[in-house]
Amino acid sequence: MSEIQTKKQIFKPNKEFSKSARIKNMCEYQALQDAAIENYEGFWGDYAKEKLDWIEPFTNVMDERKFPFVRWFDGGKLNVAAQCIDRHLNSRKNKAAIIFEGDRGDKQIITYLELYYNVNKFANLLKNEFDVKKGDRVVIYMPMIPEAAYAMLACARIGAIHSIVFGGFSSEALKDRIEDAAAKVVITADGAFRKDKPYMLKPVVDAAIDANSPVEKVLVVQRNGEDVEWVAGRDYSYNELIKSQSSICEAEVMDAEDPLFLLYTSGSTGKPKGVQHNSAGYILWAQMTMEWVFDVKENDTYWCTADVGWITGHTYIVYGPLAMGATTVMFEGVPTYPDAGRPWKMVEEYKINQFYTAPTAIRVLHKMGEDEPAKYDLSSLKVLGTVGEPIDPPAWKWYYESVGGSKCAIVDTYWQTETGGHIVSPLPGATPIKPACATFPLPGIMAEILDPATGEKAEVGEGGYMCVTRPWPSMIRGIWGDEERFVKSYFGDVKKDGKAVYFTGDGAIYDEDGYITITGRTDDVINVSGHRMGTAEVEAAIKKHPNVAEVAVVGKPHDIKGEGIFAYVVLKSDDGIADELEEMKTINKVIQKEIGNIALCDDIAFVPGLPKTRSGKIMRRILRSIAKGEKITQDISTLEDPSIVEKIATMVNN
Ligand code: WTA
Repeated sequence: MSEIQTKKQIFKPNKEFSKSARIKNMCEYQALQDAAIENYEGFWGDYAKEKLDWIEPFTNVMDERKFPFVRWFDGGKLNVAAQCIDRHLNSRKNKAAIIFEGDRGDKQIITYLELYYNVNKFANLLKNEFDVKKGDRVVIYMPMIPEAAYAMLACARIGAIHSIVFGGFSSEALKDRIEDAAAKVVITADGAFRKDKPYMLKPVVDAAIDANSPVEKVLVVQRNGEDVEWVAGRDYSYNELIKSQSSICEAEVMDAEDPLFLLYTSGSTGKPKGVQHNSAGYILWAQMTMEWVFDVKENDTYWCTADVGWITGHTYIVYGPLAMGATTVMFEGVPTYPDAGRPWKMVEEYKINQFYTAPTAIRVLHKMGEDEPAKYDLSSLKVLGTVGEPIDPPAWKWYYESVGGSKCAIVDTYWQTETGGHIVSPLPGATPIKPACATFPLPGIMAEILDPATGEKAEVGEGGYMCVTRPWPSMIRGIWGDEERFVKSYFGDVKKDGKAVYFTGDGAIYDEDGYITITGRTDDVINVSGHRMGTAEVEAAIKKHPNVAEVAVVGKPHDIKGEGIFAYVVLKSDDGIADELEEMKTINKVIQKEIGNIALCDDIAFVPGLPKTRSGKIMRRILRSIAKGEKITQDISTLEDPSIVEKIATMVNN
C-alpha cells in the first residue's frame, strides 16, 4: 500500500535539515508573522535595511495614501544590477554565479567577476551604440542562454526597463508587446538549439517589426550560427559590438520606485497586460523568498528549470538567486532530451541542492521515465519546488519518493506574475507538509481566503477567493499605460472591512488545520502546462480565421498539461469543409500565427451555435461541463435556445 494516499497525510520537515534552516520550526514562523502583523512597516523596513545595499537610505517604508498605487522605500536609492553583482565582488568574486548547460551538453561557468564584466560591457553597448537611456523600454526575445541574463542585468544597470517576451510567442504576439511598451530596442538571438536541432528567433523578430514600429535597433546574439536576414542600419551583431566595449560601467542611481521591468501576462480580456515591477521592493522580496523558501546556503547549487520569458525565470533564475549571491543553473534544453533522465543526470553532475520545476514537467518526467531517477545519485538534493499550477497527488508522490528519496521538503510555491515572488508556500525546515498544498502565507504576507460576498475570512472547507489584504513590497505597481485596468483587474472584486483588497483571480480553500489549497482560477484564464492563457486571447486569435463566425474557448483537464484548450467553433459556412480535421489544422495555424504554439487547441468542436443567455452572454460553465463529459445540471431554461445544449453535448461526446 502506498504511504501517500490522502491529502491529510502530513510530512514533517527533515530534522537534520531543520537544524540549520533559516526558519527552523513553526514557532519561528509564527513569531515572524506576528512581528509583521504587530508592526508592519517596522518588519519590512528592518529587512530592507538588512538585505539591500542602499546608495541612499529610504526615508519612508510604505506610502499607501494613493492605494492601490502604493510606494515602498521612498527616498531610497539603489541599483538592482549592483544588488545582484557588485556587492558580491568582495566575498564571492570567484564563485560561480551562473552555470549554463546547453541543449547539446555544452557548458559554461560564469563567476561573479565575469558576470560583472559581461554585464558592464553589455550595458555600455546599449548605452553607447544604441543610446538607451534610463526609462527606455527594451524588449528581450531570447533563448535560455547566459546572454539573456546579461541583457536583463544590463538594462537594470543603466535604468532601462526590460520586457521579456517568451521565445515561444509568435511574431504577432511579439509585435503587440513591442508596440504596447513602445520599445526602441529588441535584443534577440539568431536562434538556439532544441533536441539537438537549431531553431530560429530572428525571423520572428523581423516579422514583428514593420515600418511603423517603434523599434530602432535590433541586437542579435549569435547562438546557433544559422544564416539570418540582416537589415542594414537596424540590425547589429552583439558578438561584434561587444568586443570594443569597456568592462566598467557605472550603475545608474535609481529611485526605489523606478520601474525595473514589464512582463506581459494574460488576463480575462483579449489584450495581454504589461505587469510592471519596480526596483527595491521587488528585489527585496526576490532575495528574501530565495533565502526562506529554498534555504540556499553559500556552497549550494540551485536549479530552476523555468524559462526567463516567464516570471519564474525572472525572480528565481536571475534576480533572486543573484541578489543573495547564490549559484544558479541555466538550462537551454528540454528535460526529456535525449531522454527523461536528463534532469537527474544534471542533478548528479552539478550536485544540485535545490531543484524547482513545474508540475507539468514532473508529470512528463514521471510518465516518460518513472525509473530514471534511480539511475542517478540524487543525494545532494535538499529542497524540491513546484510552481505554476496545482500539482496532483500522484505526481507529488513520485517527486517526493523517487526524486527526493523521501527526505526532501517539497515546497509547493503559490504566486503569480503580479506578486513578484512567492506569497503562500511551505518553509522547508519548518512547515509540516501536506501533499499538493501551498500551506501558509509567507511571513510578512497578509494572504487570506475571503468570502467574496461578505469579505469575511472563508470558513473551513467552504472555499473562497485568494486575496492579499495589505500591500507588500514586490506587488505589481501597475499595468503599463492603463491605470484603470490595473485598479479594475485586481482591486474590484473583494472588499474587506469596506476596503478593496488585492484579489489574485484564484480560488482557494482552508482545511481544518488552516492549510491553504489553491483550487484554480475563478476567471476566464486557463493554465496550460503552467502557462497562463486568457480564453479571450485565444478566442480573439481564432476569430481572425475567415470562416469563423463565433467561438468560445474553455479549459479541459489534461493528463500532462494540467489543462488543455477546448474551442467550440461556429463556422460561417461549412460548404468549404472537406473534412473537419483539415479545418482544425487551419484554425490552429491561425493561433500559431497570432499567439504561438503554446496556445494550440487540443480539441475543436464545430457546433451549430453556442449556449447564450437572452442578453447574449456565453454560458461557459455549460461548455466546460460538456468538455469534461459531465452531465449538465445547470439551469438552462434562461438560455436563448436551450436545445442547443443537448445538440452540442451529443456532438462532443460522440
Ligand atoms: C497558478 C507563475 C496552484 C495560479 C508563478 C496563478 C498555482 C497562476 C501555483 C499564475 C501553485 C501558480 N498551485 N496554482 N503552487 N502557482 N499557480 O502569472 O492560477 O504565470 O494565478 O505565475 O498560476 O501564473 P503566472
